[in-house]
Amino acid sequence: MNEKELVGKEAAKYVEDGMVVGLGTGSTAYHLIVELGRRVREEGLNMIGVATSVQSAELAKEVGINVQSFNDVKEIDVTIDGTDEFDPALNGIKGGGGAHLIEKIIAVNSKRVIWICDHSKEVTQLGAFPLPVEVIRDASQHLFDGFVAKGYAPSYRLTPAGDKFITDSGNYLIDLHLEKIDNAPQLAEELIHLVGVVEHGLFLDIADHVIMAKDDKIVHFYK
Ligand code: A5P
Repeated sequence: MNEKELVGKEAAKYVEDGMVVGLGTGSTAYHLIVELGRRVREEGLNMIGVATSVQSAELAKEVGINVQSFNDVKEIDVTIDGTDEFDPALNGIKGGGGAHLIEKIIAVNSKRVIWICDHSKEVTQLGAFPLPVEVIRDASQHLFDGFVAKGYAPSYRLTPAGDKFITDSGNYLIDLHLEKIDNAPQLAEELIHLVGVVEHGLFLDIADHVIMAKDDKIVHFYK
């Protein structure tokens, strides 16, 4: 079993009968959703899934999970999602799959947030992974030029066909190639106050627990 599958299956054990569960996006969350679907079908697990992307909603429905919109549930008991990086304080960068806006909305409205990942995601300092910034299309070029001026080395996220990637919410993504982020809270404040920025991929003080796989071992990190 590979590391992503190992943690996906492990994290599914944290879901109990009657829970409303935020379902993450990406290649690790894929294994979580598949395993939860198995539990629903084979063990009669009674749960509601709130998906963080169209992709995860489709997969969850396909495997038999009752998917509801965030607007239609009262509260989310736990959200389980992947991450692109996490540091010793359990701060992270997300959005490698372009879903960080909805992922953040679901996560900050959850009683508990668990990240699942392979061991390549553990870092001592955030920033090697390009920081995704979701922007309103009409504002994108001016924001892009501003990022260039600040030395943030931006690039537009592109599709494999070379077009600008469009998020589930209809926006563009600009990735900032920062290499390292010395003051993440300050950068988060700066980005969120730029008019036209919808959301950035810095997830600070959001995760409560990280379940990481290293080879065939599972390692837990708690806040
Ligand atoms: C989606 O936009 C991301 O935040 C993913 O959760 C993150 O990129 C982790 O993805 P993988 O599990 O595919 O590495």
